[in-house]
Amino acid sequence: MNAGILSTGCDYPKGVLTNADLEQMVETSDEWITTRTGIKERRKASPDEYTSQFAVRAGRQAIERAGLKPEDIDIIICATTTPDQILPSTGCLIQRDLGCVNAAGMDVFAACSGFIYGITMVESMIRTGQIRYGLVIGAEVLTKYVDYTDRTTCVIFGDGAGAAVLGPVEEGKGILSTKIQSDGNYEEQLYARGGGTKLGTTHETIDNREHYFKMRGNEIFKVAVRNMSGVSKEMLEKAGLKVEDVDLVIPHQANQRITDAVAKKLDVDPKKVYSNIDRMGNTSSASIPIALDEVIQSGRVKEGDVVLLTAFGGGITWGATVIRF
Ligand code: UT7
Repeated sequence: MNAGILSTGCDYPKGVLTNADLEQMVETSDEWITTRTGIKERRKASPDEYTSQFAVRAGRQAIERAGLKPEDIDIIICATTTPDQILPSTGCLIQRDLGCVNAAGMDVFAACSGFIYGITMVESMIRTGQIRYGLVIGAEVLTKYVDYTDRTTCVIFGDGAGAAVLGPVEEGKGILSTKIQSDGNYEEQLYARGGGTKLGTTHETIDNREHYFKMRGNEIFKVAVRNMSGVSKEMLEKAGLKVEDVDLVIPHQANQRITDAVAKKLDVDPKKVYSNIDRMGNTSSASIPIALDEVIQSGRVKEGDVVLLTAFGGGITWGATVIRF
């Protein structure tokens, strides 16, 4: 049984954080942020907003657009690095709030690659007949984990959620190839140590700002380009396709310069590479499903089109998926 994406949805905060706002918070400039990242503004949750709220709205939209009922969903995977709380999982809270009474809810913790991790798992469950319909959601409220005194991280991240319903599709369509991978040797490139069992949450960890994300952006940059382009080529080959066969590439929206470098390494026409980073910033696991929803709703992806998704994130983690719609 082939598995494909039947529908998508997305949701994000109304609050907007512009480069001009950031100029008031840290020593930076609109010019630096625009030229180094491509970002002009990003969405920011208010203090009383949290991850599952955006995830539930995105998920509900996707279920309705698939013409399904909440009870038809067999599994909900929420890809997030910024859960509502430690326990229970955000997936369980989404399952409750959507009324998906027959679903198992769980989280996947794979940073920006989380959505690709989720669809890779659900694809195999559908293909092997274990389940019929799965809901994969990438949802983040990163701005609550960002240190707004650290200009090297605070300018890139934003909040939001994107969702996709996966289910059986006809032969020759759907997910043609997909792969996920990680290498924990690179853990120091992007991390938040506070709050876990190693350091715990103490006055000291909070004073040292250990609960915030720390990033070696420049080091990540090179590995991100190498791994996203490498796994994309591998998955195209596995699907029996060439780069010319791809109608649209949706890379994780990490930084416009990373997107451009991946496009160059893949030797793909830049017009075929989607970007919304100017409006959304880097929303980690939510970036690909939000972008996917935008291209589907705007009619940019049509039946028969081949779409390549590729992501990279802290861990490090990476992956790629080739889909025929
Ligand atoms: O989502 C998956 C995981 N994350 C990523 O993929 C992020 C990948 N990395 C990046 O997007 C980029 O590395 C950043 C946007 C984070 C940084 O851009 P960069 O071109 O790699 O800058 P850099 O870290 O090499 O810093 C260059 C200079 C430094 O100044 P000096 O030492 O040359 O004087 C920084 O201190 O830019 C300075 N700088 C800034 N200046 C103004 C760093 N951040 C800022 C800032 N505003 N916000």
